[in-house]
Formats: sequence, C-alpha cells, structure tokens
Amino acid sequence: MAKLAEASGVVTSDVAAYGILAAFLVVAYAVAGVVYNLYFHPLRNFPGPRLHAASKFPWAIQQTLGIQPFETQKLHDKYGPVVRVGPNHLSYTDPRAWKDIYGHRVGGESHVAEMAKSHTFTRSLRKMPTTIASADREEHSRFRRALAHGFSDASMRQQEPLIMQYVDLLLDRLHRECSDGKKKLNMEAWYNWTTFDIVGDLVFGQSFNCLEDVANHPWIDFIFKMIKFAVLTISVTYVGLGEAVQWMYAVGGGSLKTVMKYNNDMLTKRLSMEKERQDLFEGIVQKREEWNISFEKLVSNASLLVLAGSETTATTLSGVTYLLLAHPEALKKLQEEVRSSFKSADEININSANSLTYMLAALNEALRLYPPVASGLVREVPLGGAKIAGRFVPGGTMVEVQQWSMNHSKENWNDPWTFRPERFLDTLEEAAKAGNRLDALQAFSVGPRNCIGRNLAYAEMRVILARLVYDFDMKLSEESTDWIKRQKVFALWDRIPLYVSLTPVRREFAS
Ligand code: HEM
Repeated sequence: MAKLAEASGVVTSDVAAYGILAAFLVVAYAVAGVVYNLYFHPLRNFPGPRLHAASKFPWAIQQTLGIQPFETQKLHDKYGPVVRVGPNHLSYTDPRAWKDIYGHRVGGESHVAEMAKSHTFTRSLRKMPTTIASADREEHSRFRRALAHGFSDASMRQQEPLIMQYVDLLLDRLHRECSDGKKKLNMEAWYNWTTFDIVGDLVFGQSFNCLEDVANHPWIDFIFKMIKFAVLTISVTYVGLGEAVQWMYAVGGGSLKTVMKYNNDMLTKRLSMEKERQDLFEGIVQKREEWNISFEKLVSNASLLVLAGSETTATTLSGVTYLLLAHPEALKKLQEEVRSSFKSADEININSANSLTYMLAALNEALRLYPPVASGLVREVPLGGAKIAGRFVPGGTMVEVQQWSMNHSKENWNDPWTFRPERFLDTLEEAAKAGNRLDALQAFSVGPRNCIGRNLAYAEMRVILARLVYDFDMKLSEESTDWIKRQKVFALWDRIPLYVSLTPVRREFAS
C-alpha cells in the first residue's frame, strides 16, 4: 500500500511538474509574442496605443462588446489618420486610403487586381457556402457580372411598380396606425418591414408580409441573431482560435435548421416561378446549371442579397428621420422642398423624387453621421506590400477604412459631429474651402466590390422619405432622444426603437 501511495505521489508530482512547465511555456510564448509585436514587428513604427500593438485582444474584446468602431474613432482623434489597432492591423481616415485599399489596382507597383478581403472577416465559418460578398476575386467577378443586369436602370424601371406597391402599403398602414399624431410609432421597425418586404419580393419573388402582419417575420429575427453570432466568430478567429469557431458552429449549428427550412421553401418557390423575372436574383438563377451552383449556394446568395438590400436602407431611413426630427430647421427646409415640388402624393415616383436636392443632401449627411456599414471592410495587403495614403505597408497586413472614424474626422469635416446637410450642396472645391472633404464619404465603398445596390437604395430612400414628408408632420418622442448615441454596432447597428408621432397634413384642394 505504502508503495502504491508513493507511486501515485510520484505520478501526481509529475503531472504537476508538466502542468507548471506547460503553463510556463504558454506564458513564455505569449510574452515572446508581445515583445515581437512591440519591438520587431514590421508595423512597429505605426502610431497607436501600446496595448493594441502588443495584443489582438483589446480589438477583439471591443468588437465583441459592440463598441469597436467608437473606440477606434477615439484612437484616430488621438493618433491621427493611420492607427495600428491590432498587432497586424491598420485603420485609416485619410480619404486617399479609399482608393488605395478598395480601388482597382492597375499598373505601377500592382501585381494583383484588387486587395483581397480578409478571410478572418468573410470566412470565419468555413463550411458556409460563398456568396458574392465573401467569394474570392474570380468567383466574385462572375457573380457580379451575372447580377449586374438586375441592378441596371432598365431593370429598376421595371421593378418600380412593385417597389411603389410596398411604399403605398406603408403609407396606407401609417395613416391607419398614427391616430392623428396621438400614438407614437416605432419608425425603425416600419422602415425595416418595408425594405424587407420589397427586397424579399425582388429576390425570393415573395414578400415577408411584414407590412401586412405589422410584425417581423421569424426569418428576419433569426438573421439578426445570426449576425451577432457571426461577429463573435470573427472576434474569436481574430485572436487565432479559428478552429474553436468551427467547433462552436458544429455544436450550435442545429439551430440553423429552422431558418434553413424557410430559406429552402422560399427558394424552391422562387425557382418554380415564371422564367426571366426582372428581379435582382434572376441573373444568378440563369447561370445555375452552366456554373453548377448548388442549391445551398443559391440560398446563401439570396439571403445575402435580402439582408444587404434591406437592413442598410432601413438603417439610413431611420437615421435620416432621427436627425431631421432632432434638427427642426433642416426638417423645415425639407418639408418646403417636398411640399412645393408636388401637387399630390401620386406625383412622387423614383424619377420625380430624383430632383429633390435638399433631400439628397440630407440623406448623404445621414449616411455620414450614421453609416450603415460603420466598420468591418477589412482587406489584406498583397505579398510585396503596397503604398497606402502615401506610406508603404508590408504584405499580409490587415487594412481598412472604418466609416465611423472617417466620417467623424476633424481633418475631413468642419464640425464633424454636427448634422448639416448644406455641406453636401457645395461643389467639391467650395466644400474643401469650408473644411469638408466630400470624397471622404463613401458609404457604398469604392472599387470592384463596392455596393451593387447603390442606385436602388437611393431610389427607395428618396421615394419613401418624400412620401412621408409630404403626407405627415413628424415629431420625435422624448424617449428617442440621443437615439444614435445609445446604440452599439455588431457589424450592423443594433438599432433601438425610434419613436415618432405622425400627424397627417391637412390640405385644402380647390374643387
Ligand atoms: C443605404 C443603403 C446601402 C449601403 C450604405 C450599402 C453599403 C454597402 C457597402 C459599404 C458594400 C461593400 C461591402 C464590402 O466591401 O464588403 C456593399 C456591398 C453590397 N451591397 Fe450594399 N449598401 C446599401 C444598399 C444595398 C441594396 C439596396 C442592395 C440590393 C440588394 C445592396 C446589395 C449589396 C451587395 C450584393 C453587395 C456586395 C457587392 C460585391 O461584393 O460585389 N446594398 N453595400
């Protein structure tokens, strides 16, 4: 017995010794990493806080908490137009960085056509089928060509009656629900329902019926939960634990079944529809057999299109509504413009709403102060390195322009935190003299992977906002004060309700 106890004592002390050794090695490895990052890393001379230069954790923790873009903006205020936000990661607010990072790369030092999207940000879940937004260059170009026709002006003219049908429905519902200004309505939800219904129809060929039901469709609730999960997977991958993410997905992926069923049903219905629908998805459907696109890949792309096309537009509409209602002098100017431009609501359509210049300026100012894609457009510098905003950056570095930082930089904007649509009424030169670098605002990004839905987004936003301003006097509810300040960002804005009371405008019509 004594011998057994002695032997087990030896084993226990061996285990403890190995444990201590393993812990020591882990700590030594981490310390070596920190020393390397601070004193030997090729980015060591870029400005930024020591903590971010030393470790990936500060950025990843901020990202997981939904505060990363705000913290990065503060770093830009302190350190200037380029900041080392992670050991191998730079953020820029110099407007030249737009072209250098996201633009077509031709001639000169370039040996690749574009800077690739960082897989940490687009492929953290490796088993998910690729979409137009996550595909690498070659597959992306094919998707983009296939989709181009559906986003052309000619297609949009054909899509207009369908879009207007949902705008009419929104207005009809708001007239019914507003109780002549006595009830407060959550406009953030109403915009979301409208844009999801429109894009659902333009992609899946069927509405989510949110406006009819005055409620979110379960698919939408699920997608928003998935986005938060995806942000977590990015943070975990960012700190080097990509394998753990695959495991999390394998264990938790079962909950995807519900949404998969919706997706499969919607896509099956869409594929059985008449040939050559003039919608946003037909281009890919037509290439299905030629390119041997799997059903799952079709589903992923359709879902991506719906999300990209609805959430962003609803965010901007919510943002511009909040900002206008918080700035009555700007709202008044817009009311004058809209109400003097049309004799009746029927005159407002995609083409006629195009002439509303103050409205466009207000939308652009809202895109600046509340950019739907606040951050996350991370690219990887190709081997051999590249010059960004006038300075060489080594290959393999993660680089990005974060819109929240770019749009709030005092080097780019006069009084950057103030809502002033007038700055967008100036020409580029006039604006530059007044301290506004209008080219710093690129809400839809630039280059080969910029937003394919830009024109559609503007068309929808202008028509919807014009119809609302024409029909209603709007007032912000007190509980929605500081609406932007109270939100977080998990890749997309985690929007909170935007309460507004709507009073129909009374008009005297000559008989
Ligand atoms: C205010 C509204 C919108 C904003 C601010 C916006 C912004 C953006 C941005 C910044 C990108 C680049 C993403 C990246 O580099 O990874 C993008 C891509 C994209 N957007 Fe939009 N978007 C809006 C509306 C729309 C609409 C209405 C659609 C229509 C379905 C759409 C579809 C897409 C698609 C498919 C991509 C990927 C394009 C590609 O990779 O080639 N977006 N959007």
